[in-house]
Amino acid sequence: MDKKFYITTPIYYPSAAPHLGHAYCSVLADIIRRSKALLGYDTYFLTGLDEHGEKIEKNAAAKGVSPQQFVDHVADTFLSLWKLLGVSYDDFIRTTQKRHVETVQKVFHRFLEQKDVYLSHYKGWYCVHEETFWTDTQVGKEHLCPECGRPVEEKEEETYFFSCQKHLEKLLQYFDENSNFITPSGRKVEMLNNFIKPGLNDLCVTRTSFDWGVHVPDNPKHVVYVWLDALLNYISALGYLQEDDSKFEKYWQDPNTEIVHLVGADITRFHTIYWPMFLDALNLRLPNRIFVHGLMMMKDGKMSKSKGNVVYVEPLVERYGVDAVRYYLASEIIFGQDGQFTPELFVDRVNADLANNLGNLLSRTVSMIGKYFDGVTPSGFKDKGEEDAALSNKIHETIQIYVASINDLKVTEAYHSVMDLLSMGNKYIEVKAPWALAKDESKKEELAACMEHLVKVLHTAATLLRPILITKSDLLEDQLGIPSSYRNFSSLDQDLPSFKVHKGEPLFLRLDAQKENEWLKEMMATPKEKAAA
Ligand code: MSP
Repeated sequence: MDKKFYITTPIYYPSAAPHLGHAYCSVLADIIRRSKALLGYDTYFLTGLDEHGEKIEKNAAAKGVSPQQFVDHVADTFLSLWKLLGVSYDDFIRTTQKRHVETVQKVFHRFLEQKDVYLSHYKGWYCVHEETFWTDTQVGKEHLCPECGRPVEEKEEETYFFSCQKHLEKLLQYFDENSNFITPSGRKVEMLNNFIKPGLNDLCVTRTSFDWGVHVPDNPKHVVYVWLDALLNYISALGYLQEDDSKFEKYWQDPNTEIVHLVGADITRFHTIYWPMFLDALNLRLPNRIFVHGLMMMKDGKMSKSKGNVVYVEPLVERYGVDAVRYYLASEIIFGQDGQFTPELFVDRVNADLANNLGNLLSRTVSMIGKYFDGVTPSGFKDKGEEDAALSNKIHETIQIYVASINDLKVTEAYHSVMDLLSMGNKYIEVKAPWALAKDESKKEELAACMEHLVKVLHTAATLLRPILITKSDLLEDQLGIPSSYRNFSSLDQDLPSFKVHKGEPLFLRLDAQKENEWLKEMMATPKEKAAA
């Protein structure tokens, strides 16, 4: 297979139990990967954990356990969350794994040899929570971290620096030549104006004041700065500088592989400025895209444990099912913009799109085929009139929009186009009034064509929604009697033969808005306390 696609999520800090905000990126990455696989790409999906750093060391000490015990425990909660949400990664990297540590040490040694890093001293303001040094101006008179608002500590220590100047020109050239490299493009402007134009300082890449990290082989009192350590996961997981580097050759080095990193807005700087420079120093190709998604917000701002407004995933999935939660994340929050989780929006989405638009169309279609055609889907009838032709065009157009949108990572647009198709299918029933056609023997063919068009709409929707509706797509196709050999993208170009429908349970139950809003509000007000370790 020629077309290859490598997608990654950030590796999460296992400093606390994950919430819906963390799940957002992983679910979207999973949806994109499944969508690309549907379109015929050979895909590889990496996620994992960023397990080193002072924050982890401190959290573990506070719990009276070793840092390794601490991260092992939290790692389990991440693994079960991804299982629950159907996040089907190919590899789960943990930065404490030997394979990763070895790659980081080799890279550091090479940087030293090439004089990309040099030893000096650093004096500045450090935020333990963000694992970042800030300047006097950035922390202001109050000495607060500009990112999270927590107090920063003044620190002076011997440290290695990564020399940025050497790589800057190439980076800017890459920005210019690859207009999609940073998406949405506003993020590129932000990076240029806020960080590059004011003058980029060399980056401090080691620490000596704590121990929990990858030790510099040539000077072991230094541990590698978490961000250099963490960013390298994207290639260490593929086997870079390891004995078996076949995945690295396939999914990184091969120019036929499209490489996409999904990141949240708060970590854009590291991914768009320093990561490309590290890669340049290693003489490796740069990723095709850094896609910056927005944050999952709550009514009172960013979801965060300290604010007590965290939505945990387990109760949501338990009550509404994994497909509804995945659908909400992909469709309600425009990919690339901040979005909200509110009980009202959640219930509305499930009811309007899944229970009504999709579910009703299916149950009406299956019932009518049962009633008018003894449960056998009509086949071989072409467009009979204007409405049929318009619906056939819409199917065709939806597939085109879907493919273009997925390839451009416009996930929300791709899935909204499927909902538009379903809306048109529902309107088509009203206009065609099959119940009236059924009363007129001379309209039998028109009625058959009508049912066949509806089956085509539903099969198209089930196929295109499959990356999101990981359980219900199959149930939908089961009700239409469509065998698994047709459950793929290439079947959308074919005429379908006849199948025997099976009336089943409603695909999505209509939610009682008042009752569910109350339940969700209560769940959010009293989130189950999930201690990290
Ligand atoms: N460990 C670093 C990433 C290193 S990648 C080489 C880190 N970890 S994190 O756990 O703090 O955040 C991981 C990701 O979760 C970030 O992209 C961040 O934007 C995202 N999110 C955290 N809270 C979020 C929301 N409420 N909504 C959406 N994404 C959120 O940074």
